[in-house]
Amino acid sequence: MTMSADAHRVVAIDGPAASGKSSVARELSRRLGFIHVNSGAMYRALAWSVLRAGICPDDEAAVVAHLAEIDIACSELDGRALICVDGVDPGAGLITTEVNAGVSAVARIAKVREVLVAKQRDYLEIGNIVMEGRDIGSVVFPETPFKFYIDASVEVRAARRQREGIRDDLARRDAADSTRKASPLVVADDALVIDTSEMNLGEVVEAVVAGLNEMGLEVPH
Ligand code: CDP
Ligand code: CDP
Repeated sequence: MTMSADAHRVVAIDGPAASGKSSVARELSRRLGFIHVNSGAMYRALAWSVLRAGICPDDEAAVVAHLAEIDIACSELDGRALICVDGVDPGAGLITTEVNAGVSAVARIAKVREVLVAKQRDYLEIGNIVMEGRDIGSVVFPETPFKFYIDASVEVRAARRQREGIRDDLARRDAADSTRKASPLVVADDALVIDTSEMNLGEVVEAVVAGLNEMGLEVPH
């Protein structure tokens, strides 16, 4: 995949679970007028569908067969990416404890990544995007100059998720995401790393905005 000079722009925001990617991407996409795409929601949508079909997320062959049978439609509405599985928006089904526990197993399958990465790249046809995930700067859009890696200590991230009232074994998910063979969570060489352990959301947004300004992208208020 190459991005031609007249291609749309991509701001890539990667990082581990509950580091603040969605919150930052939401505010940034609003200010920039870019489409907000949460790539994690695509892996979650597949995990949701797999679990509903009674398939074990660790059963690679069954997950790949299921993926071939369903229609994962990715579209856009009012600046936000929308994902439907066979015409159904999973909604809050994407953030259940069961999906949290099963999503890394489906995301480690190379065929799954091939199919979902193609859908992620398709968003660039629609417009400028802020995309968050694990491998956006390293694999999905390596050519973009606008790359961030949002981090925080595992204790801080666990506390953030707990405040949301959601059960999520972050350490287990981090380990699975960082050690898998296919596109593991890594810091892209040219990403600006921001440790947000002691920053509130407004401070993180300002740090990303300052980074984008330095990289040549002006961000309106
Ligand atoms: O919001 P949170 O950081 O907790 O997770 P997410 O971004 O919704 O991603 C859920 C899971 O999808 C991750 O734990 C990864 O296993 C997988 N994922 C991935 O492999 N690659 C991406 N680009 C995004 C998510
Ligand atoms: O998308 P990701 O899982 O990386 O994180 P998020 O959903 O944006 O943030 C997880 C939780 O941490 C949310 O409740 C945010 O409001 C909170 N948060 C925070 O307290 N301080 C920050 N600097 C960033 C996020």
